[in-house]
Amino acid sequence: MSHSKTYDNEPLTAWVNGRFVPLPEATVHIEDRGFQFADGVYEVIACVNGHFLDLQAHLERLERSCAAIRLDMPMSRSEMQQLVEEIYARNPFRRAMIYIQITRGAGPRAHYPATGMQPTVVLTSRALPQPSSERLAVGYTAITRPDIRWKHCEIKSIALLASIMGKQEAHDAGVDETFWLDDEGHVLEGCSTNAFAVIDGKLVTHPLDHQVLGGITRDLVLRTARNHQITVEERPWRLHEAGLTECMLSSTTNAVMPVCRIDGQPIGDGKPGRIALQLRQMVIAALEADA
Ligand code: PDD
Repeated sequence: MSHSKTYDNEPLTAWVNGRFVPLPEATVHIEDRGFQFADGVYEVIACVNGHFLDLQAHLERLERSCAAIRLDMPMSRSEMQQLVEEIYARNPFRRAMIYIQITRGAGPRAHYPATGMQPTVVLTSRALPQPSSERLAVGYTAITRPDIRWKHCEIKSIALLASIMGKQEAHDAGVDETFWLDDEGHVLEGCSTNAFAVIDGKLVTHPLDHQVLGGITRDLVLRTARNHQITVEERPWRLHEAGLTECMLSSTTNAVMPVCRIDGQPIGDGKPGRIALQLRQMVIAALEADA
């Protein structure tokens, strides 16, 4: 059936408000508050050979994001888990990313949400992009910019305009990511990634607060580091600290990737760092071992 082919020619199935439908038919109302106000939250979950990485942690974060915007979860944890499994079963990529979005639902446009709205729930499963080996050999690059986002970055909100502008700047500069800086020049995180440095041999990343998203991969990286006797420091850090030898980023879609040039300057010797590569290998091994 031609209508079940997407623009990139994959016959994908989506979940929209209670039904599995071919992706091109997966639509929501023009007065959906997600469309009009970005009044919603989301999750991205990696899946390798049918094993979901830290699924419970993602579903917990989804519940936290909903609670933070006072949106009642439209289903229980186990119902959501079942949906995740079903959307994957219908789009079973060997390496998949499951996308979940919940908005407050559709209704006449008014900032204050009406009570009793029916939330919109959308799920997709797509192929998880992999960096090429050439890419891994040279690592990623980034620029830094003052953080122009809001003061609730711990909520996984679908209001991502600032992140999109950051990615556009990164693209214009020919780099992979923009890292946001606070007013004192501390590196907070990327547009869609958490950021880390190796300083005096310790793995350093910004502490969890309203300025960063508590990445599920960030947690895994910190756990993995501690299990391998790498000292972890969750503290504000700057790019130009003495003893900084490596940078890296983490996210569901990237696992761990070394970042070798920032603002045009090489980090350390400008090659993927030993600890970044070690953590990448260990995080991926953890993923595949469970699969
Ligand atoms: N982005 N920080 C921000 C601002 C993010 O958007 C993300 C995830 C992360 C990493 O979180 P996790 O390890 O849980 O994926 C950190 C997702 C992947 C996205 O928007 O596509």
